Amino acid sequence: MNRFPVIIDCDPGVDDVAALLLARQIETMDLKAITTVSGNVEVEKTTANAKKARHAMGIDVPIFAGAKKPMFREAKHAYHFHGEDGLSGVVYECPDSPTEEEKAWDAMYRIGKESGGELTIVAVGPMTNLGLAIAKYNDFASVVKRVVIMGGAAIGGNVTPCAEFNIYADPEAADILFQSGIPVYMCGLDVTMKAYMTRDELEEIKGMNTPQTDFFYDVTNEGLIKYIGFGHPGVAMHDPVAVLYAADDSIFKTEHVGIRVETKGELTLGKTVTDLYSDKQWEHNAYIVTDVDREAFIAKVKELMAKYK
Ligand code: BDR
Ligand code: CA
Repeated sequence: MNRFPVIIDCDPGVDDVAALLLARQIETMDLKAITTVSGNVEVEKTTANAKKARHAMGIDVPIFAGAKKPMFREAKHAYHFHGEDGLSGVVYECPDSPTEEEKAWDAMYRIGKESGGELTIVAVGPMTNLGLAIAKYNDFASVVKRVVIMGGAAIGGNVTPCAEFNIYADPEAADILFQSGIPVYMCGLDVTMKAYMTRDELEEIKGMNTPQTDFFYDVTNEGLIKYIGFGHPGVAMHDPVAVLYAADDSIFKTEHVGIRVETKGELTLGKTVTDLYSDKQWEHNAYIVTDVDREAFIAKVKELMAKYK
């Protein structure tokens, strides 16, 4: 089987944990590293949470810690959704393990070179580590094949009316990524809000009865309770969308467009501005994912989680 090299850059985060647990079971993914960043909570906590996810995944993938704060701004966190610990208080005990010495952006560059230009980076937190890698290494764009992100939206936002959290937290880094020349595939709120999991579907995962499916259930259930409170039919599987899209885009709808990030506006800071719905006059530097076959997506999530025995 052909496997493709992948780094998951994340800020666990309840849905980041779900994304990592799923990635472990995708046979075509050759997970080279997990990198962490300040986002939902501080980087020390996102790194500790990534280690918990790795323990549950049962693999020996290295974890490289990244940026403590955005490139040009102070850190913003999402305690209201992910809790002070980043896991909404969900307890998962595992032995402590050391963090690699190498920084996230250096590991991305090194692994990109070692992978002969075939590396996919799935970025499901603020894009600070990628912004730093692009700023530090002139040829970074040539060592990465594509970046699939969870972030942004053509329409709307979840932190402000215009901005999604991962972009809002570090808009300059995201804009550097969109201008880098690397093909960027944007799985934003346009698609992730459609990729929701209902209470009954999540209970099926609980019924699988393994430590991994219990961990998935516990973190996802915290999000589900909040989403149902907002009047949504289920919990948006934000970060899992980016991982599953990277593995197989056949159940998604994608368009080739121009995307930049608003870094100056007062009311519009962090908006991903796209010509998707306008005169398409921009250079098409990115791909926007606009739709998903929700039932096929949930079937895939269940199929992957059922592989834990
Ligand atoms: C994104 O923001 C974070 O809170 C989630 O982990 C996800 O990556 C959704 O806007
Ligand atoms: Ca995340």
